[in-house]
Amino acid sequence: MNDNFNLDSSQTTQENNSPTIENYLLEDRVFKPDTSFIHQAIYNSLDIYKDADENTELFWEKEAEKLSWSKKWEKVLEWELPFAKWFVGGELNVSYNCLDRHVENGKGSKVAYFFEGEPGDKRTITYQELLDEVSKFAQVLTDFGVKKGDRVAIYMPMIPELPVSMLACARIGATHSVVFGGFSSEALKDRINDAEAKVLITADGGYRRGSLVPLKQSSDEALSETPSIEHVIVVKRTGQDVNMTPGRDVWYEEVMKSTPGFAAPVPVDSEHLLFLLYTSGTTAKPKGIMHSTGGYLAQVAFTHKAVFDIHEDSDIYWCAADIGWVTGHSYIVYGPLANCVTSVLYEGTPDFPDKDRWWKLIEEYNVTILYTAPTAIRTFMKWGTQYPGSHDLSSLRLLGSVGEPINPEAWMWYRKHIGSDSCPIVDTWWQTETGAIMISPLPGITDLKPGSATFTLPGIHAEVVDDVGNKVERGGGYLTLTQPWPSMLRGIYGDPKRYEETYWSRFKGKYFAGDGAKIDDDGYMWLLGRVDDVMNVSGHRVSTTEVESALVDHPSVAEAAVVGANDATTGQAIMAFVTLKSGEDPSQDKGEELRKHVSTKIGAIARPKTVIFTDDLPKTRSGKIMRRLLRDVAEGRNLGDVTTLADPKVVEEIKNRAQVSPQED
Ligand code: WTA
Repeated sequence: MNDNFNLDSSQTTQENNSPTIENYLLEDRVFKPDTSFIHQAIYNSLDIYKDADENTELFWEKEAEKLSWSKKWEKVLEWELPFAKWFVGGELNVSYNCLDRHVENGKGSKVAYFFEGEPGDKRTITYQELLDEVSKFAQVLTDFGVKKGDRVAIYMPMIPELPVSMLACARIGATHSVVFGGFSSEALKDRINDAEAKVLITADGGYRRGSLVPLKQSSDEALSETPSIEHVIVVKRTGQDVNMTPGRDVWYEEVMKSTPGFAAPVPVDSEHLLFLLYTSGTTAKPKGIMHSTGGYLAQVAFTHKAVFDIHEDSDIYWCAADIGWVTGHSYIVYGPLANCVTSVLYEGTPDFPDKDRWWKLIEEYNVTILYTAPTAIRTFMKWGTQYPGSHDLSSLRLLGSVGEPINPEAWMWYRKHIGSDSCPIVDTWWQTETGAIMISPLPGITDLKPGSATFTLPGIHAEVVDDVGNKVERGGGYLTLTQPWPSMLRGIYGDPKRYEETYWSRFKGKYFAGDGAKIDDDGYMWLLGRVDDVMNVSGHRVSTTEVESALVDHPSVAEAAVVGANDATTGQAIMAFVTLKSGEDPSQDKGEELRKHVSTKIGAIARPKTVIFTDDLPKTRSGKIMRRLLRDVAEGRNLGDVTTLADPKVVEEIKNRAQVSPQED
C-alpha cells in the first residue's frame, strides 16, 4: 500500500467528525418511491435481491443469457483470486449485441443518438445508420492492418465518430484505448506507448465553450515519440488548419468513401480484451485498466436497465459525461446501445452559449432520464434557479448522480429544481475498475436518503471493514468488495503485480476500492471519498503523485507536495506546496508558469488551483511528506498531531504563507 496510507486513514477518522459528515449523520429525510413510479418500474420487488443472494452465479448467468452469444459458455465463473474469468468458453461480439441484433429485430429505424454539437449542429442517427457506419469503419480499420488483439488509441471530441470508432474496434476484436480529449499531448503519448497502439483515431479539433480544441496538433506533438503508431485517421470536425503527414495520416471521410464493403462482426472469447482505460492511482504512472467482453457487457446492460429503469420504447436517456471517462464508456456507449435505447449525445459545455444549455436540450429532446455528476449540480446551484426555471423539464422522470459523494444540499436542489420534487435520484457508486455500477438504489424499490448511495446492487457483495480488515456492521471504515463481479477489471495492462498490490493486498481476499464508507443504523451506505493519494476534482481522479512529478519536472522546482482541499464547486481543488531551487524567485508569475506547466504535462483538469511557495515541506523523520498536515493548512483547519514532524517550524511557516497566498481560480 502507499506510504501515506496510515496518515490518510486517520484523516478519514477525523473526517467522520467534520461538518460534512455530521450533515450526513443528521440527514434523516427519507423519500419513498411514488406509487405511480413503482407501478411502472421494471424492478419493483425485493425478490431480485433475494434471488441474487441465493445464487449469485445463477443471477449473473440469467443476465448474460439476455445477450446474444455465438457460442455458449461452459462455466459461469472461474475465480483464482485475484483473477476472474466470467462465462468461460463463451463467444460473442459487442458490436453485434449493440447494433446488428436490434436491426435484425426490426429496430433499425429507431434513433440511437440525437447528437448536438456545441455550435448547435444536429444529427439524428438511427440504429441502422450506426450499424452501417460502424461496419464500414471496421472495414477501414481492417484495411489499415488492424487485427484482432491490436490496440487502437482514440483521442476525440464528443461527436458520433467517437462511439463509431469504439464499436468498430469491438467489431473486429481490436482493443480500444480512449484518451480523454482534455488530456495533453504528453498524457496521450504515454498512453499510446503503454498500450503500443497501432492506429490513432482523432479529429482536427473540437468545440469547447466556443473555442477550438486543437486535437490534431496535440496528436502531432505526441506522435513524434510514439513508434508503434502506423496510421492516423482524422475526422474533420471544425475545419481548422492541420498538418497531414503523407503516408501516415488520412481523413476519415475520404477513407470511408473509398473503402468498399462492410466488416462482419468477429466473435471473440468472453474474456477478450474489449478496452483499456487509463486512470490515476497513487503513483505517477497511470494504470491501464483492462476490461473484457462478456462479463462487462452483461453487467453494464443489466445495471443500465435496472438502475435507470429503462423503458426501451419510451425513454430518451441522457448521460452528460464525456466518453473519455468510464461513465461514458459504460453508460453512453455500451449500456444504452446494448439496451436499444435512444440517447442524447452533446459535445460541449453547459454554459455555451448560455448557462441554460442543458435545460434547453432536455426540453427540446424530451429527455426522461438525466445522469450527471455532483460537481455539475453544484455549479448549477451557483448559477441560480432562473436557468432551469425558464425551461419545461417536465419530461424528466429519473435523475442520476456519479463521480463523487453528493452532498445532501445538492441532492435536494437536484430533486427540487431539476426533478420537480418528484423524480427519484439514483446516486451510483462505482469506479473505472468496477466497469459498472455497484452501489445504487433501484428507483422502484429503494427508499432514498439524500447523500447516500444506499445499498449494493443485486449480485454485488461489499463490506465496510476496519483497519485490520474486520467487518464493520455499523459505522465507518474502508469499502471493500468481497466477491468477484462480471464487469470487474481483469488487471492493469502489462503489470499484474501492481494489480495485486493495489487492489488485493491491503485486505486479504478482498478488493480494496480506495474509498472510505460508513454504514448507518438502517444499513445505508454513505461514501466518504478517497482514503489514498488520489484526489477527486470535479469527479475526475487525479493522483497527487502525478501532479507532483509534473511540478518537479519544471526546471525551477526542487520539491513539491500536492493535496486536495475541500472546494464548494469541484469537490476538491488541487493545492500545490512548492520549494524552488535556490536562486529562483517565488513570484506570482512563477506560480502561473507552474500551473501552466502541469496543464501541459497532464491536462487542464490537473492544473493546481493554488500554488504556495515554501522553503521546506513538513516531513516525518523518515522523510515522507506529511500530506495530512498540508491538507489541514489548505483547508484552514487546526493542525492535527504534529509530533512526528522533523521540523515543526515548517508548518507554522506554511500556514502563514497560505494565509497570504493569493487564490487562483
Ligand atoms: C468516486 C467514476 C461517492 C469514488 C464512475 C471512486 C463516488 C471514484 C461515487 C471512481 C458516488 C464515484 N459517491 N463517490 N456515487 N461515484 N465516486 O474511476 O471515490 O472516475 O473511487 O469512476 O469516484 O472514479 P472513476
